Amino acid sequence: MEAAGAGSPPSQPPAPHPAVAPLAFLLGKWRGEGEGSFPTISSFRYGEELLFSHHPSKPVISYTQKTWKAASGEPMHAESGYWRLRPDGSVEVVIAQSTGLAEVQKGSYDAEKKTVTLQSELVGNASKVKQITRAFQVSDGELSYVVQMATITTSLQPHLKALLKKI
Ligand code: HEM
Repeated sequence: MEAAGAGSPPSQPPAPHPAVAPLAFLLGKWRGEGEGSFPTISSFRYGEELLFSHHPSKPVISYTQKTWKAASGEPMHAESGYWRLRPDGSVEVVIAQSTGLAEVQKGSYDAEKKTVTLQSELVGNASKVKQITRAFQVSDGELSYVVQMATITTSLQPHLKALLKKI
């Protein structure tokens, strides 16, 4: 049997690239549950996993999301993209959704409050969606977000709210 403390020391995760370090509070894998709603649909509950990952040599965070029906585990919406900080301190995110919709989001962050607020600058290949906003907050080790959208028939209002824990 190996003596306690023998072997290699635990490896520390490498420091993030300085260009994404202010968003390091997002990094890691998060899992939790959310609720979807909109005036035109029946509300629903979903499970969700988010992964924010990066390589220390690249000034960008990779983002993947997958969701499933809370009751059955059947896959629902998924999306993936890239997050970066611009030289002016703003945040820029590109996202491809499993529905075929493409988004460019721009906004701001607060590293102390651990918040990111994004508004769509471009929504492409969408039949109904005109605008999307996304607001994230990390607090007490939990990540919460609200996604709002405006469609051709309905003004900007919440579609998704979720609370996830770091796993
Ligand atoms: C409905 C967009 C994310 C599940 C809709 C509708 C739109 C939409 C346009 C139809 C609303 C209407 O007809 O008035 C979006 C956008 C998303 C997003 C832009 C991301 C930014 C998600 C996610 C899930 C989801 C993550 C699942 C976890 C649903 C469901 C409906 C719906 C179940 C109702 C479908 C139906 O009743 O036929 N969404 N969605 N959506 N969405 Fe999303």
